Amino acid sequence: MTTKIRKAVFPVGGLGTRFLPATKAMPKEMLPVVDKPLIHYAMEEARAAGIEHFIFVTSRGKTALEDHFDRHFELEETLARRGKKAELEALLSWQPAMGQVSFVRQPEALGLGHAVLCAKELVGNEPFAVLLPDDLVLSKTPCLAQMAAAHAPVGGNLVAVMDVPREHTQRYGVLTPGAVDGALTEVKGLVEKPKPEEAPSTLSVIGRYILAPSIFGHLERQERGAGGEIQLTDAMAKMIGEVPFHGFTFEGRRFDCGDKVGFLEANVAFALARPDIAPKFAPFLAEAAGKL
Ligand code: UTP
Repeated sequence: MTTKIRKAVFPVGGLGTRFLPATKAMPKEMLPVVDKPLIHYAMEEARAAGIEHFIFVTSRGKTALEDHFDRHFELEETLARRGKKAELEALLSWQPAMGQVSFVRQPEALGLGHAVLCAKELVGNEPFAVLLPDDLVLSKTPCLAQMAAAHAPVGGNLVAVMDVPREHTQRYGVLTPGAVDGALTEVKGLVEKPKPEEAPSTLSVIGRYILAPSIFGHLERQERGAGGEIQLTDAMAKMIGEVPFHGFTFEGRRFDCGDKVGFLEANVAFALARPDIAPKFAPFLAEAAGKL
C-alpha cells in the first residue's frame, strides 16, 4: 500500500512528569519554543507534508490544546479594532479549516501504543503519520515531508531514526539494522528501551512514524511491554516481515523537548534560526558563553 498520507495522529495524552512543575496544570505540548507551542510546530510540520486531517489524542487537563486550534473571536475582534492587521492575518493563516481537526480522549495514560490505538476509528484503513510533539526537528525540509517522499516508493512502515550514544539506548526503541540503501535502513528487529549492553545497535527511533493501518490489529491485543505500558514499538516489531519496514535517517537536528535541557537547547537553536530574533539574542548568548 503506497497511497498518499492524509492523516496524522498527535499523541498528547502523556503526563509530562519529566517537566514538572511546569506540566502540572499546563500540557507539555503547550510549552513554547521561542513563540510557538510545541504542538503548533508539529501541526505545521504535518501540514507541510500534505496532511489534511489532524487527530489529537488528548486526556484530562489538555483543553488548552483544543483552544489553540479553535477560533478566538474576542482576540480577533480586539486585534482588528486596534489596527493590528499583520497579527490578525498571522493568527488566521494557520487556523485549520472546519472539519480538519479531530480530538479523541485517551481515558488512561497506558502508553504510546494505547494512545495511537485510541485513534483507530478516526484513521480507518489507510497509512497514517504519528508525530510526537515533544520531539522537535530543526531541518531544511520538514522531517515528515522528507519521510513522506521516502515512503512513497517503499510503503509499509517508515520510522525516523538517529544514532544515539550507547549509554542512552534505554530511552528509545532501537533497531536491528539490515540492508542500507541511502537514507533507508531495513528493520530486521526492534526493541524498546534496551540496556546499553543489550542494544542491537545505536540506531534509535525518534517521534516521527509513518505506519500501515495493520498496526491496529497488533495494538488491539493490548499486550504490556517495557514499564508496564502498551508500547508502539512492540506492535511495530510484530509487523517485521508483514509489511516493508525501514528506518529513515533524516536531515536535521532533533531536540527532546520533554526533557528540560533538550527544551533549553531547542529554544536557543530555534531562536538562532529566526532572522527576526537572532540578531537581538546572539549578543546575549555570546556574553553568557564568554562567562563559562
Ligand atoms: P513520553 O514518554 O514523553 O511520556 O511520551 P510523557 O508522559 O508525555 O512524559 P514523561 O516521560 O512523563 O515526562 C511520548 C509521547 O507519547 C504521548 C505523550 O503525550 C508524548 O507525546 N503519550 C504517552 C500518550 O499520549 N499517552 C500515554 O499514555 C503515554
